[in-house]
Amino acid sequence: MELLYEGKAKKVYSTDNPDELMVEYKDDATAFNGVKRGTIVSKGIVNNKVSAHFFKLLEENGVATHFIRLLSGREMLVKRVEIVPVEVIVRNYSAGSIAKRLGLDEGIKFPFPVIEYSYKSDELGDPMINDDHIRALGLATDAEMAAIRGMALKVNEVLSNYLLHKDIILADFKLEFGRYHGEVILADEISPDTCRFWDKNTMEKLDKDRFRRDLGGVEEAYNEILKRLTGESVL
Ligand code: C5P
Repeated sequence: MELLYEGKAKKVYSTDNPDELMVEYKDDATAFNGVKRGTIVSKGIVNNKVSAHFFKLLEENGVATHFIRLLSGREMLVKRVEIVPVEVIVRNYSAGSIAKRLGLDEGIKFPFPVIEYSYKSDELGDPMINDDHIRALGLATDAEMAAIRGMALKVNEVLSNYLLHKDIILADFKLEFGRYHGEVILADEISPDTCRFWDKNTMEKLDKDRFRRDLGGVEEAYNEILKRLTGESVL
């Protein structure tokens, strides 16, 4: 296997099947576009297992994903896609960058899921873009964006309902999509790195905001999400 790409949180390897890749989830953590760095012990295991759990749930609910199967604690086999360079953010509650940008308190429930797009570029810090930018830059076709928007809303509905039964509010999350044999499918990861999870009863943050904001209890929060979803524990 050849290392094809190493990102901030994952390594991607080729396999002997040209249609498949292996993803290894790392414990490295970054925030604020790489300015803050650290390690979250066993994060790679949590994110691998939590992503696999969500991908399976989504497949059962008719959302096509890149997930094939888990290979080990930190590794999964996925379909080799061409990533669409548009990050899709779905927001149910105000938090993070939208709270800052629009001067909102955190924790306000929006009347409907608010979708934002950003251009996937580390050099530029993932700037927010709209449908016209996507069309003008040729980042995705209108048909692809229609499919992506529909899938993002479906993911939100499936995961929000599922998580509420685990006493977790899905405040917001980021998705990435990829092209696979002419179809757009869900790719990347769905984990405490890419979602805001709030305990429904205490509003305690159970996600990467604990690292971003130095709130402490980072490993415990990641482990709590794994435990509520799968019953497993890594601590
Ligand atoms: O920072 P912001 O409030 O825009 O993040 C919205 C959601 O998208 C959060 O759940 C965050 O974890 C996720 N996100 C991400 N990767 C990025 C930007 C945001 O996973 N590059």
